[in-house]
Amino acid sequence: MTTTKSRRQAPTAASFPTVRPRRLRQTAALRRLVQETRLDHSILIQPLFVAHGRGLREEIPSLPGQFHLSPDTAAAEARELSNLGIPGVLLFGLPASKDEAGSEAYAPQGIVQEAVRAIKGAAPELLVITDVCLCEYTSHGHCGLLAPDGSVDNDPTLELIARTALSHARAGADIVAPSDMMDGRVGAIRRSLDEAGYAGTPILSYAAKYASAFYGPFRDAAGSAPQSGDRRGYQMDPPNVREALREIAQDLQEGADIVMVKPALAYLDVIRAARDAFDVPLAAYNVSGEYAMVEAAARQGWLERERAIQEVLTAIRRAGADIIITYWAKEIASLGL
Ligand code: PBG
Repeated sequence: MTTTKSRRQAPTAASFPTVRPRRLRQTAALRRLVQETRLDHSILIQPLFVAHGRGLREEIPSLPGQFHLSPDTAAAEARELSNLGIPGVLLFGLPASKDEAGSEAYAPQGIVQEAVRAIKGAAPELLVITDVCLCEYTSHGHCGLLAPDGSVDNDPTLELIARTALSHARAGADIVAPSDMMDGRVGAIRRSLDEAGYAGTPILSYAAKYASAFYGPFRDAAGSAPQSGDRRGYQMDPPNVREALREIAQDLQEGADIVMVKPALAYLDVIRAARDAFDVPLAAYNVSGEYAMVEAAARQGWLERERAIQEVLTAIRRAGADIIITYWAKEIASLGL
């Protein structure tokens, strides 16, 4: 007890000049030697936006440096990412048409299903993770079915979310990632995967997903902004952290294999709390608004882009994330980090 205490005791002012923390900061080699957190592209997942068509590669205005891709160009991109050592991609789909029930989300020939098949054909060892949600596919832009009073109807939505996840698994998805925040969706997905013979398909749950202003650029990119109202009735309230731990515990009980905190940068304390409370793999989503913020400021010449990117990703890692979903994954790998 006493030894632990004295070992942990911080040096006091009285120990100067014997103790000089600056000794270990003098050269790059020394700094690298004592570096506590390392950024490594083998834990970075690259999101991709896929749309119908052929030969499509169109830059997304709200996410400069990111592209709308068709299944063939997504497959080529996937091969490149795989060669760079990126472990996986996270797919978001732009459907050909939208309706009240988001039916392209679970259509066998839906855009995500097509893209999964193309990518698995081109880069079989790259993990294909699919975002499971209805908001890109519904005409109203909400993540579930609407009740007559306009609220999102939890229980009838579960069947559609489970159907979507199963159709992704059938197309060849390696991991399904529900982001809708309906209560009970992890359990519903697990049951439907198991019954259909996909007991081996893991679930990465967006367990603590907040109703955040930082999704703005994504909603432009995916055309998924709600037509009326907002997502505060199902996504988490930003001031809450204990509630995040309850959400995570619940998803784990229902069978989640990997849990996620989203966004990352304004929620580093939530990542840390989750890391300390649970011993399962933890992911963090460095979302579109966090990306756009750095990119926009860098374009104005207001900050050093590459240093800022590395600082952001290192902070998310330091907070305790095992896996980071980030629009900078490819760039970090290209830089050899
Ligand atoms: C779909 C979904 C969203 C994001 C991931 N999945 C948008 C939202 O909830 O409105 C956001 C990702 C990002 O901002 O980078 N529900």
